[in-house]
Amino acid sequence: MNQIELIKALPKAELHVHIEGTFEPELMFEIAQRNKIDIPYQSVEDVRQAYDFHNLQSFLDIYYAGANVLVYEQDFYDLAWAYFEKCAEDHVVHTEMFFDPQTHTDRGVPFATVIQGLKRACDDAQTKLGISSHLIMCFLRHLSEEAAFQTLAQALPYKNDIIGVGLDSSEVGHPPSKFERVFAKAREEGFLIVAHAGEEGPAEYVWEALDLLKVNRIDHGVRSEEDAQLMQRLVQDKMPLTVCPLSNLKLRVVDDMADHNIRRLLQQGVHVTVNSDDPSYFGGYMNDNFIAITEALDLSEDELKQLAINSFEASFISSEIKQSWITKIQAL
Ligand code: ADE
Ligand code: ZN
Repeated sequence: MNQIELIKALPKAELHVHIEGTFEPELMFEIAQRNKIDIPYQSVEDVRQAYDFHNLQSFLDIYYAGANVLVYEQDFYDLAWAYFEKCAEDHVVHTEMFFDPQTHTDRGVPFATVIQGLKRACDDAQTKLGISSHLIMCFLRHLSEEAAFQTLAQALPYKNDIIGVGLDSSEVGHPPSKFERVFAKAREEGFLIVAHAGEEGPAEYVWEALDLLKVNRIDHGVRSEEDAQLMQRLVQDKMPLTVCPLSNLKLRVVDDMADHNIRRLLQQGVHVTVNSDDPSYFGGYMNDNFIAITEALDLSEDELKQLAINSFEASFISSEIKQSWITKIQAL
């Protein structure tokens, strides 16, 4: 088996994917039409042309605009179902999907509509495709602490359907400390905790996510390498980083995939995983991310297996199920 065949054969867990970021232009047009909502594009080609980003904010502006056509329960179902079909193609057997409730509730879409559509797709993915999943709701960090508290209150009736709470959107200028109190409340309510940190923001934000938000995983975290003490802490705590290589390239966190630090992080003992972030916008799903780093960084078969093992170890599934996937990986 060569490396590409191994990538395809490996069972994998995805731990960092924004469901709104899986919105393919074809589906966006279809849903816009049936909901009679205007979008500022003439064609699918036109949409793809607009995906020319130079930083996180230039992407977020387009990403939030795209999400505007999602209104009904069926829209959220269709969005998530299309992503699960991609998971099946890439042998992603477990996924922990982010959703951004405020992007929808701020437009008058009820929280219940969002969660019910996503949950129904998750249930169907389990029965029809054998793919397990969890939902993680993210607070938009460019909005206020008060808005995050309101969103947390709206989520409480759906506690059994939401495994964790995360933090995303414009990072610089919105440090984790801004949300310390709302994350304390989320932990009290039994949610697991993740946060985007160290994507565009400094290593200091990763420290805050660890010490103030008390995260179970860091999303991105690639800038941790700038701080040797932080690197020690990540290794010592076996703290997972959910790294998103194609995203980092598209948003110019790295200039060239050959400069990506995922292999160095792995070699230094950091618990890194591979993920797609917003695959429709960044040019690829899980296997595309694996292939891109393998080609640029010449990853060995053992390193590829380790990345797949890490994805299960860092996931929020039971230790028995984790172990059964890891055993399958080791047998490949
Ligand atoms: N929302 C969707 N993708 C994101 C990313 N990569 N960083 C921050 N917020 C996001
Ligand atoms: Zn992300």
